[in-house]
Amino acid sequence: MNQFFKKKDWLSFQTNKKLKKTLGAFDLTMLGVGAVVGSGIFILPGEISSTITGPGIMISFIIAAIGCGLAALCYSEFSSKIPQAGSAYTYSYYVFGEGIAWILGWALLLEYGLAIAAVASGWSSYVVNLLSGMNIHITKALSGSYNPEQGQYFDLPAFLIIAVIGVLLIIGVRESTRINNIMVVVKILVVLLFILVGAFYVKPDNWTPFLPFGFNGVLTGASMVFFAYIGFDAVSSAAEEVKNPQKNMPIGIIAALSVCTLLYIIVSAVLTGVVPYQQLEGVGAPVAFALQSINQNWVAGFLSLGAIVGMTTVIFVMAYGGTRLIFAISRDGLLPKILSKTNHKQTPVQNTIILTISMGIVSGLVPLAELASLINIGTLFAFCTVSIGVIFLRKNPNLPTDGFNVPFYPVLPIISCVICLYLMTNLSQTTWIAFIIWFILGIIIYFTYGIRHSKLKTF
Ligand code: ALA
Repeated sequence: MNQFFKKKDWLSFQTNKKLKKTLGAFDLTMLGVGAVVGSGIFILPGEISSTITGPGIMISFIIAAIGCGLAALCYSEFSSKIPQAGSAYTYSYYVFGEGIAWILGWALLLEYGLAIAAVASGWSSYVVNLLSGMNIHITKALSGSYNPEQGQYFDLPAFLIIAVIGVLLIIGVRESTRINNIMVVVKILVVLLFILVGAFYVKPDNWTPFLPFGFNGVLTGASMVFFAYIGFDAVSSAAEEVKNPQKNMPIGIIAALSVCTLLYIIVSAVLTGVVPYQQLEGVGAPVAFALQSINQNWVAGFLSLGAIVGMTTVIFVMAYGGTRLIFAISRDGLLPKILSKTNHKQTPVQNTIILTISMGIVSGLVPLAELASLINIGTLFAFCTVSIGVIFLRKNPNLPTDGFNVPFYPVLPIISCVICLYLMTNLSQTTWIAFIIWFILGIIIYFTYGIRHSKLKTF
């Protein structure tokens, strides 16, 4: 138990092996928007608005944004005061101790790993559709996850996109953030195009009834659209590679979240204003569908392309965050050392290869739709812990006091934690059971491996 609650000493930060500092506030904002805007806006709103929220999905996006925004402020405080790789895992190591940090790191692995795999599946279905529109057909056996009854065995496009991203990350983060920035600009332009074209076809009548499933529907919807905001926390994994993190981290996180929130609310307003919500049931690409319904087929084509580019950046940033998280955990001794080895450019190559190949295989084989809410629960758990962590951070006299401070302390971190807990309670029982199984697995690994190999070993 002594070891379980053993905290990192602030001074150890100064002597740690470091990653290279190359990123500024703009790169961070782009990383954030890159990680956030993806299948959550290009795929989810159809199903959710038609069966759970109605046009009230706009409010669901606002509620989820408030929860994320408060958590983002807490993340900002941590990342500006403890600018190290590993995000919430590392923060917890300083304020709660090793055991809790491990549990959180384990939950984040679930978030990043499954998000990479799930978004790659969405990416693959968009690509397979777009190619078949161009009369290029990928053999059925290799175009979807394992499902012999449908004649599908492996999702090759999903595997390939993860592999390509692995290669980009190995080439170097500076070089690949440049490519990421270009893709993020394309994605934002495409979303703006949808808003500009769609706005002319909005029929306000489509917004009535506004809450066909009542306010409860809106709240359940909020726990689901929460997925659309996941990723801004991955920005904080970059902290160690950021110039002047005290200033740039909060700017990057808050700017990214604000841009995304605005886009989501407007896109969902236009979407439900153009197409009556009932017609969106079972529509896999609702935004493109809305444009087709108003005969804007060429814009719809652009949009599919933009969605593919957009989901690519989500996979990129999640894979980036995942490799940095594994790097940090391994550097502390809780995972095998090979995972924190770096090359001459200080890039953790081995860990990138292992993460991307294993997630490529998961994405290729496992049908992920049902697992998506597991990503939400893992992330909400991390948000809760980080929010409460701020209170412990301020109490620890050894940690720095400069950097960003959460306003309205301690009320704001407490409200943030309560909202995240509430959203967790809205998730299904199956999700909870799967999460608890993952949690138990994590505890077993910690007590059989981590505790013996930890750098802070006390026995
Ligand atoms: N927020 C990311 C997406 O919507 C995970 O794709």
